[in-house]
Amino acid sequence: MAGFSRQLGIDLGTFHTQIAENDQILVQEPTVVAITVNEMKMVELGTTALGMMGRVPESIEVIRPLRNGVIAEYELTEILLRTLIRRVTGPTLFFKPQLLISVPYGVTSVERRAVQEAGLGAGGREVNWIPQPLAAALGIDLPINSPTGNMIISLGGGTTQAAVISMTGIVSAETTSVAGLRLDDAIASYVRKKYGLVIGQPTAEQLKIKIGSALPVDEEKTMDIQGQDQVSGLPKPATLSTNEIVDALQSPLEEIVTTIRRVLEKTPPELISDVIDRGVALCGGTSLMKGLDKYLTVALGIPAYVVDNPLTCTVEGTAKGFESLDLILRNHPNYS
Ligand SMILES: Nc1ncnc2c1ncn2[C@@H]1O[C@H](COP(=O)(O)OP(=O)(O)OP(=O)(O)O)[C@@H](O)[C@H]1O
Ligand SMILES: [Mg+2]
Repeated sequence: MAGFSRQLGIDLGTFHTQIAENDQILVQEPTVVAITVNEMKMVELGTTALGMMGRVPESIEVIRPLRNGVIAEYELTEILLRTLIRRVTGPTLFFKPQLLISVPYGVTSVERRAVQEAGLGAGGREVNWIPQPLAAALGIDLPINSPTGNMIISLGGGTTQAAVISMTGIVSAETTSVAGLRLDDAIASYVRKKYGLVIGQPTAEQLKIKIGSALPVDEEKTMDIQGQDQVSGLPKPATLSTNEIVDALQSPLEEIVTTIRRVLEKTPPELISDVIDRGVALCGGTSLMKGLDKYLTVALGIPAYVVDNPLTCTVEGTAKGFESLDLILRNHPNYS
């Protein structure tokens, strides 16, 4: 029977959930659900639900069921997973799939267990977890099975995880909740202080992606926004430029650097010299931030580069993880 069981790798992220099988990505959706407030029934999920954010009547709520990489709304996460898994397997789960789900480094055993339970509740036959940095490293084909130090930094929406990996195991790592969403918050708070304007997270995110940068630029871009005047409550426009966003982002970016430095401090010198030789691999949606690779290269004194598949390496690595599942489980036991 096991021969018929499909092996699905899942990246359950704060912003995006993806499912892969072998080297194919089968599902990519925002981790968002829209539910009826009274009955808690799901009306939409993924891209459609995301499009409803901030635009629904009181009877409907649009929710991100994960916060900082961990499950905040258990039942909604399970419904989301079940719906997405069935999209892959079809409605009848005669042969239940095996699941390997990535979980942020450093979460509690209770939080990990919640992910496994949600996977089982969603129709998984056997559900294992893999630390996210390890999955990402598998997904970018770093030689992690050898005794060399490989550093990977996964910069997502709700978590930044920095890890040094050797012999398919995490040698040193740290996780912080300073990631994409906190960068949006920093931009919103800058706009409120400087212009007296309240803007929502989606507008702050647009500013970050369209004109933002980690380092100052000579040729600035600008973007017009509509905010809500803090005093009168009325709509008011403003025009922001790149170097203002650079200013706004400095404090959270410094926090990210502090987290990475802590990992380097904990890493044995032999492995550090490998990392210096090989560079630091960056992945996750926030690694696409303009100038972030240069910013980190200067701040750390180690070359940092964005990998070729920054948005998909984690899910690709979870699917690949089935090939070395025994080794992964030995290094990161399921019920520790
Ligand atoms: N070009 C860009 N510049 C800066 N940030 C970006 C860019 N594109 C996407 N992002 C940010 O990437 C984040 C989402 O990344 P990703 O999909 O990797 O997160 P996730 O895997 O769901 O979250 P996590 O791993 O933290 O649970 C969002 O905060 C988004 O604003
Ligand atoms: Mg992620």
